[in-house]
Amino acid sequence: MASRVWFITGASRGLGLDMARAALRAGHRVVATARDTDGVADLIGGAEDDVMVLSMDVTDGVEVETSVAHAFKHFGRIDILVNNAGYGQMGRFETVSRYAIQRQFAVNVFGLMDVTRAVLPIMREQKSGHIFNISSIGGARGYAGSAIYCASKFTVEGLSEGLAAEVEPFGIKVTIVEPGFFRTDFLDAHSVRYGDIDVPAYAEGNAVHKNTFDEISHNQPGDPSKLGDALVALTREDNPPMRFAAGSDALEIIGTDFANRQLELAKWSKLTASTDFD
Ligand SMILES: NC(=O)c1ccc[n+]([C@@H]2O[C@H](COP(=O)([O-])OP(=O)(O)OC[C@H]3O[C@@H](n4cnc5c(N)ncnc54)[C@H](OP(=O)(O)O)[C@@H]3O)[C@@H](O)[C@H]2O)c1
Repeated sequence: MASRVWFITGASRGLGLDMARAALRAGHRVVATARDTDGVADLIGGAEDDVMVLSMDVTDGVEVETSVAHAFKHFGRIDILVNNAGYGQMGRFETVSRYAIQRQFAVNVFGLMDVTRAVLPIMREQKSGHIFNISSIGGARGYAGSAIYCASKFTVEGLSEGLAAEVEPFGIKVTIVEPGFFRTDFLDAHSVRYGDIDVPAYAEGNAVHKNTFDEISHNQPGDPSKLGDALVALTREDNPPMRFAAGSDALEIIGTDFANRQLELAKWSKLTASTDFD
């Protein structure tokens, strides 16, 4: 397959870094972006001509537009966009301040939208492209202690599904990626955030949640390098999936959730159908 140009957000560590490495292994070129890009070129490896590292905060609209323009000027095209930059705002809803919620949406949702808006005209002009929006199992179902994070990822999923239908006529594909637990910095102090309001009623639940995540951190079952290879494989498909669940844990959790939703739909179907006009 011809060498393609990947534009990846949050490529300094974790999933994004391994996606960049996988794309290079497969013979593609990569624009790797993150806020802190110190040493990232060395971490990614690859030939100098194939890699461009750009310092870009997805919440800074000017940096986003400049970076996309710079990447396009350098490589002349953008074939694959991976909207990966993000973090988890944990904590029971009432313990998360309005400011913390806005910050979560600024990165996970509005940042993703701004990068997408900057890249789409290039893909429309090319009449081709593939956008991967990194969601989560938390974008498929909600969890106690992760309501705000899940809300941000549900938003990413709704946007992606609608956008996919809008850009399909231009030859642009959209795939939502729903990873389970992958071994990255996601659950350590570099990334995850917990509630910033003290509500005694939730103290115990929040503490159990945080302890569980602290124990899982850096012991997660998912291998970011293999997820990178899976994304490369999906770019080769003429008909890639709308949603791609990543990891055996995701397969189990999302499969169970679907079964439960179908059961619930069937259980209430009579009342559901009763609300039409006679
Ligand atoms: N690991 C998991 O188990 C898991 C599961 C489901 C979904 N996910 C999703 O996967 C994505 C990547 O997470 P990860 O596990 O790789 O976490 P990670 O190891 O903490 O990496 C997060 C990346 O996002 C970047 N980033 C954070 N805020 C940013 C901002 N404002 N602007 C630009 N870049 C920013 C970070 O770089 P800088 O700090 O240098 O900017 C870093 O490169 C996230 O969207 C996350 O929600 C992860």
